[in-house]
Amino acid sequence: MNIGIVGTGYVGIVSGCCFAEEGNSVICYDIDEEKIRSYSVCKSPIFEPGLKELLKKNIAEKRLSFTTDIKELVNSSEIIFICVGTPPMNDGSADLSQVEAAVRAIAENSPKNSYKIIVEKSTVPVGTHMHLKTITKLYNKGKSRFDFVVNSEFLKEGNAIADFMNPDRIVIGVETDRARDTLLKLYECFDTKKLVVDPSSAEIIKYASNSFLAMKISFINMVADLCEKTGGDIENISQGLGYDGRIGRSFLDAGIGYGGSCFPKDVKAFIKVMEEHLVDSSLIKSVDNFNSIRYKKIISILQDELWILKNKEIALWGLAFKPETDDIREAPSINIVRELLNMEAKVSLYDPKAEENFRKIFPQSQNVRYEAEPLKALENCEALVILTEWEEFRKIDPCDIYSALALPIVIDGRNIFPSDKMKELEFRYFPIGKGVILRDMRNSK
Ligand code: UDX
Repeated sequence: MNIGIVGTGYVGIVSGCCFAEEGNSVICYDIDEEKIRSYSVCKSPIFEPGLKELLKKNIAEKRLSFTTDIKELVNSSEIIFICVGTPPMNDGSADLSQVEAAVRAIAENSPKNSYKIIVEKSTVPVGTHMHLKTITKLYNKGKSRFDFVVNSEFLKEGNAIADFMNPDRIVIGVETDRARDTLLKLYECFDTKKLVVDPSSAEIIKYASNSFLAMKISFINMVADLCEKTGGDIENISQGLGYDGRIGRSFLDAGIGYGGSCFPKDVKAFIKVMEEHLVDSSLIKSVDNFNSIRYKKIISILQDELWILKNKEIALWGLAFKPETDDIREAPSINIVRELLNMEAKVSLYDPKAEENFRKIFPQSQNVRYEAEPLKALENCEALVILTEWEEFRKIDPCDIYSALALPIVIDGRNIFPSDKMKELEFRYFPIGKGVILRDMRNSK
């Protein structure tokens, strides 16, 4: 099939590459000329495992091309996926101006008597598909025929290609048989559950899924806080909860809170949608509030341990919001570093992929140093804070951490080390939600 992708962020570029890999002819458009130039020569401005290889292969085999000319995309595509950003506005609601601009450009450039299926893949509030209809009517003036489909993407950064190729489900929100049949044909080779629903349901499914997962994370973090006061090991508790098939084990890893480009933004936007429709949003509002101050936990442990943080040097491992990505959007590391610097502490930073992005917010300075090796980042530091569970951190021998640090204080925001071993090594080790160990160590002060 001939597919057009408008917007080459995470969702757009991954969808484009994967559709091409499945044998479709795909053209990707973006207003950002630099991005398009870069993709055209097989360079990806974002790091995503496997993406470069797919780009290279599908460009070489002439199934994937790039353009900054929307007319070219519209002319050659029957199905056009809108994958532009929907960033948060100051009040938390989604800014849909990029979606509007994309649909307007498609409407204006669609040839007379043509038929196009416009697919909303960006995450948008319920009812957006109705606005898309209005915009196409206004700017196309009845020259062409359009169908509208809502087909949200559920991919996770760092695992995006695998998620696209092996999804848990494919949700298709449609109003016409023709659009339904075309989309089902496009997804024919994907062996998974396909749910065909009305467009409003499809729009809500995406926000509700992300908000529900965010709620699971905040829930387990709340229980972890209880463990730290009463005893109990959060990993045992997650397992105990997870064995209940109705609950499930996934997204019950306690930590320092969720970040990224989706959960924080989508939870806020979902609250806004509910407020607009006068629905009680207090449940999901608590999730947002709870998560937004979670990073303070790290600061308060550091203060408990080191008292005054001014002039103390703290090492931080893992600046990305999660492993296998260079994305630092809404990463807890940002708030933590900002707060430490406000307190006139120094930070020594290491991340396998996200350093370049982090430097854009916190350039190297007297109080901010970057190191290319995790152990090097510990030198002269009074404490280590682990913020992202990169696999390479798990492989580091805790004895080497002990030797490298000036004081053996480790705050493990992702519970990557075995508590028993850390205790044996006489670390002052602070995992999340392992109360007994935390208390024992405090008692042994
Ligand atoms: C998420 C959704 O999973 C995906 O379906 C949607 O399309 C986009 O948003 P993503 O933001 O890439 O994907 O990452 P995800 O793996 O879901 O993690 C989000 C955040 O939650 C990360 O900060 C992660 O560290 C945190 N998290 C996740 C936890 O703290 N505990 C968990 O158990 C799982």
